[in-house]
Amino acid sequence: MSAVEGSAAGSGAAALVATDVTKRFGSVEALRGLSVTVREGEIYGLLGPNGSGKTTFIRCVAGLVRPDAGSLALWGGEPREAVAAGRVGYMTQAAALYVELSVEENLGFFAALEGVDGVRQRIEEVLRTVDLLDRRRSVVGTLSGGMRQRVSLAAALLHDPRLLLLDEPTVGVDPTLRRDFWDHFRGLATRGVTILVSSHVMDEAGRCDRLGLIRDGRVLAEGSAKELVARAGTADLESAFLTLSEGATA
Ligand SMILES: Nc1ncnc2c1ncn2[C@@H]1O[C@H](COP(=O)(O)OP(=O)(O)O)[C@@H](O)[C@H]1O
Ligand SMILES: [Mg+2]
Repeated sequence: MSAVEGSAAGSGAAALVATDVTKRFGSVEALRGLSVTVREGEIYGLLGPNGSGKTTFIRCVAGLVRPDAGSLALWGGEPREAVAAGRVGYMTQAAALYVELSVEENLGFFAALEGVDGVRQRIEEVLRTVDLLDRRRSVVGTLSGGMRQRVSLAAALLHDPRLLLLDEPTVGVDPTLRRDFWDHFRGLATRGVTILVSSHVMDEAGRCDRLGLIRDGRVLAEGSAKELVARAGTADLESAFLTLSEGATA
């Protein structure tokens, strides 16, 4: 087990341990030895530019992509076992909703796929969590981008997962809603849900307990936003990212 320093939350056991994970798609090396440990109740941010391997890694954690090498365990077991046991929720980068169906019809469909018990009540609960209860009968195609993102989050929460994978969840969401989203994430983490969230937006990164700066399929540096800025000796995280990536390739 690795010792992890300096974060406010996530003092529990390791939920996710990835060690030297590699994945190649033909000639593209998407992951080149990525190592990350995320503890229960922690919000861990994968921060990196497009093409750095964030989605590929999240898909490995979701059991959808098998690493070529390295190890990846959820609570000490195979990702697929944790997924089969309903412990993992995944909000994909592109919304996977039926635009011609209503919000509650969409959630009913996903609840059936997940074998959720007490469907009506559970749909109400998750819609309350994302503040969309009053739009339950709206057709998804008529909703704003931010509302759709909230429906996607609600869908990922239906089966009450212990680990939530959020792939760029706030893309296309305005600043106010983005803040609400992060409040939801923090609320979930406070209740013990572990969150792995990817972003290429630096200003959100401060909301994570710890960050892994990802480039070219590996973690360049890890720590809280404050720690990373201090280590790089820069004014903000964006410059810290650049400074730390130069250091890593020098
Ligand atoms: N299924 C795939 N087939 C071929 N190449 C892929 C596939 N998935 C991802 N890649 C490539 O792997 C690299 C990492 O992509 P991705 O994990 O989507 O990065 P990010 O989410 O950080 O933008 C990119 O070069 C991308 O084109
Ligand atoms: Mg991606």
